[in-house]
Amino acid sequence: MDKIRIEGPCRLRGRVRISGAKNAVLPEMAAALLVEGPVTLTNVPAVRDVETMAKVLRHLGLRDVALEGSLLRIGAGEPGEPEAPYALVKTMRASILVLGPLLARLGRARVSLPGGCAIGARPVDLHIEALRRMGATITIEHGYVVGSCRRLRGAEISFDKKTVTGTENLMMAACLAEGRTALENCALEPEIADLARFLNACGARVEGAGTGRIEVHGVPRLAGAEHRVIPDRIEAGTFVMAALATRSGITVEACEPAHLVAVVDKLKECGADLRVERDAIEVRPDGPLRAANVVTVPYPAFPTDLQAQYMALMTRAEGVSIITESVFENRLMHVGELRRMGARIVVDGQAAIVAGPSPLSGAPVMASDLRASACLIVAGLAAQGETTIDRAYHIDRGYERVERKFQELGARIERVRG
Ligand code: UD1
Repeated sequence: MDKIRIEGPCRLRGRVRISGAKNAVLPEMAAALLVEGPVTLTNVPAVRDVETMAKVLRHLGLRDVALEGSLLRIGAGEPGEPEAPYALVKTMRASILVLGPLLARLGRARVSLPGGCAIGARPVDLHIEALRRMGATITIEHGYVVGSCRRLRGAEISFDKKTVTGTENLMMAACLAEGRTALENCALEPEIADLARFLNACGARVEGAGTGRIEVHGVPRLAGAEHRVIPDRIEAGTFVMAALATRSGITVEACEPAHLVAVVDKLKECGADLRVERDAIEVRPDGPLRAANVVTVPYPAFPTDLQAQYMALMTRAEGVSIITESVFENRLMHVGELRRMGARIVVDGQAAIVAGPSPLSGAPVMASDLRASACLIVAGLAAQGETTIDRAYHIDRGYERVERKFQELGARIERVRG
């Protein structure tokens, strides 16, 4: 297993380009199952989850799934095999995104249950319940979600809880359903609006994506289209926080600051000197940061996917901050590793209380999930001495060339092949 080794503390400088959003491209790839014509996606990040979704699509019988740099082409075709097996799904929960498209296109689906996951139970009950409302018969058999239907039919569905992939799954399923589907209490994430833009370019009739109410008028078929994936707001936020944690001046380019308003506001509250441009955020080195409390809440509030990185940053800030994770029930596993680097953090239920500033010292640490590994990189860059992060495969799931991008900013960071 690869490790990431950092010799800190590092001072970053220069410019970094943000890649396309992992959480936008994954549903867009799943949507290719709905589409008859060829699909071209551009600004696709070279991350492991994209490779995994490509494997899932190939397994489902889509031929010609070709990744060439940031370009992904999926040839015209029809899925043949309705089964997404455990071996693939267990490595990426987002595989559940094929459930709605398979039911809509083939009238059959067998998708392994994602199962327990490092960051909480993360069930898919809301996806299943909503697809049943559209006329699908769904059972759980031997660890698989097994669904069948004739043609899905439009329905009025109100989600009990905001779910990002649940909203996406239903939005995709409704595209080929008979009649009109109204989805209420939808998640508002920009990746959902991006998926809708792609679906509409293919001939779908989706309205309201990005708001709490989405209406979809079913159409008999969808044609292929070309689509540019939006920038990854979580990668952008991670680089901004890495710069602040190391008191560095960098420019984060090719991002979409409009998707990071809550994050930028929070960082400014901490005293960060940020200049926001149309598609870039400039971080300027400034005086010490002040601690500020944060609660993770679905978009447009502060994202759970930046909670861990923010915690690393708060170990550098003056004062006490309370970081409350309200989206997932078990997403504070990085606390133990940060403590091993000298951070003073106490966990109280879903909240972590961070006393800063702490002089961090490099240590061997273990990544427990994707965003926790980003948090450990931020901490390692700020810490004195050597940090080695074990299980680097977690970071490769969602960050493109992470060590190269930090090297280009002047960090002493390298991958140690395992
Ligand atoms: C997506 C993102 C992930 C992000 C998360 C929250 C993708 C591919 N992944 O994950 O990076 O951390 O949103 O912003 O876009 N829930 C249920 N039943 C369900 C579905 C969800 O109880 O059927 C709960 C979950 O356990 C969790 C909450 O709802 O507590 C939100 O989860 P959800 O928005 O569905 O997360 P994902 O779509 O899996």
